[in-house]
Amino acid sequence: MFWVYCSLGAVLVIYGVTLFVLSRSYPEPNWDWSQIDTSKLDFPPDFEWGAAVAAHQVEGGNHNNWSEWEKRVDASGNTPIQHGDVSGQAADQWNRYPEDVRRMKEELGLNGYRFSIEWSRIEPEQGRFDEAAIAHYHAVLDALQAAGIAPMVTIHHFTHPVWFEELGAFEKAENIPLFLRFAEKVFSEYEGKVSRWCTFNEIGPYSVMGYGLGVFPPGVKSYRRMAKVMRNVLVAHVQTYRLLKSLPGGDEAQIGLAKNIFQFDPYRRWNLIHWVQCRVMDNVFNQTILTFLKTGHFHLHIPGRVRMVETIPDAGGCLDFIGLNYYSTLLISLFMKKEPPFEPNLRPFQIRADMPYAIYGEGFHRALHRISQLEKPIWVTENGIADAKDDRRALWIQRYLYALNKAREEGCDVRGYYYWSLIDNFEWAEGYAMRFGLYEVDFSTQERRLRDGSQAYVDVIRASRSGQG
Ligand code: GCO
Repeated sequence: MFWVYCSLGAVLVIYGVTLFVLSRSYPEPNWDWSQIDTSKLDFPPDFEWGAAVAAHQVEGGNHNNWSEWEKRVDASGNTPIQHGDVSGQAADQWNRYPEDVRRMKEELGLNGYRFSIEWSRIEPEQGRFDEAAIAHYHAVLDALQAAGIAPMVTIHHFTHPVWFEELGAFEKAENIPLFLRFAEKVFSEYEGKVSRWCTFNEIGPYSVMGYGLGVFPPGVKSYRRMAKVMRNVLVAHVQTYRLLKSLPGGDEAQIGLAKNIFQFDPYRRWNLIHWVQCRVMDNVFNQTILTFLKTGHFHLHIPGRVRMVETIPDAGGCLDFIGLNYYSTLLISLFMKKEPPFEPNLRPFQIRADMPYAIYGEGFHRALHRISQLEKPIWVTENGIADAKDDRRALWIQRYLYALNKAREEGCDVRGYYYWSLIDNFEWAEGYAMRFGLYEVDFSTQERRLRDGSQAYVDVIRASRSGQG
């Protein structure tokens, strides 16, 4: 029995030391917001304040792309989007962009706007480019220029033409040149009007949701195929960066990508299984990509499922800036749902957004410091709350901009902030129930109304422009 007790004691000591090291290495800060004056901000007058959208989520009338997925009916007669929604007319921004640009300038006072160019409109068939679609995005850029609003263009924001999907999309490395041709076309067409480009939006979620969890097209559930796609899209980013930098206007252009960071924190910090889950998820969603962007070394490992290790020569540092999409942390436990509608674990004091996560400004501060490790200028390319009642939007804005200000004061080189989103839009697998807009959209009339909660953003912008915050 003596040795039994010794062994048990040793196990408990090792367990305790392991938890101590993990807790110290990956703290979960929760600030006492009652002691924080979120109005004390110090943004420079030339700081770029913007809003973000994505083509498929706002334009309306998209087909020949992700919209085909929305209509897919499974064996039980269900479609993949909650409430049976389809993107349909979305917020009709294809037609209403002049009004939205005016509102951005006159009502919000923005000087930045992030949007994506829809590949399926520009190149509806392989090798055929649509001049009317090309002209449309020129008109959007001209309207922004006339309003003094700087554009940031995302080349691939989850969606692409059906013909590209049918060829296997990014699961096949031989398809990468097809994306390069599209990227070269839009860059050459618009480089005189666009100074900042994101090659891809959220390579992690694109790979995981589409090929790991199967809740995005093509609806695959294979970690091996997911790893292949993630590797190929990262390679596509590197090749796109090199190609665009080699084109006329390439030296002046700022080329990056939008990287999302979600923290994964153990729901029970004493539970080693929750810790293991978090570290694996962080590797898949965050660290694999961050390491690749810095070093060109790709190492994706899900124990017992997939391990892919490869170094792409000279791939590290192919960024002029890094975009950060940040929303919140996820408290991970063993039996939580892995498909929408997700049900989040929350701390008793936390306030939940309509999306399945908490208002967690502290996490924004964490993510800004983490992504600073890439040693590139940072643009916050997405941050915002789904809040249909508009009873938490102001709180989100105040807390997250306080956290942003704090990170800047501590040396994080953040150049701009794009609120997600300008207008209510199609939230992918969640459909239209998630209302992210600074402007509420009545989808029956397409009328926009500035939400009361959005005034908190307008106030910060005005204060920073007047040099008072
Ligand atoms: C994403 C995309 C956006 C979302 C936004 C809110 O992360 O899915 O970048 O298209 O709409 O992040 O979830």
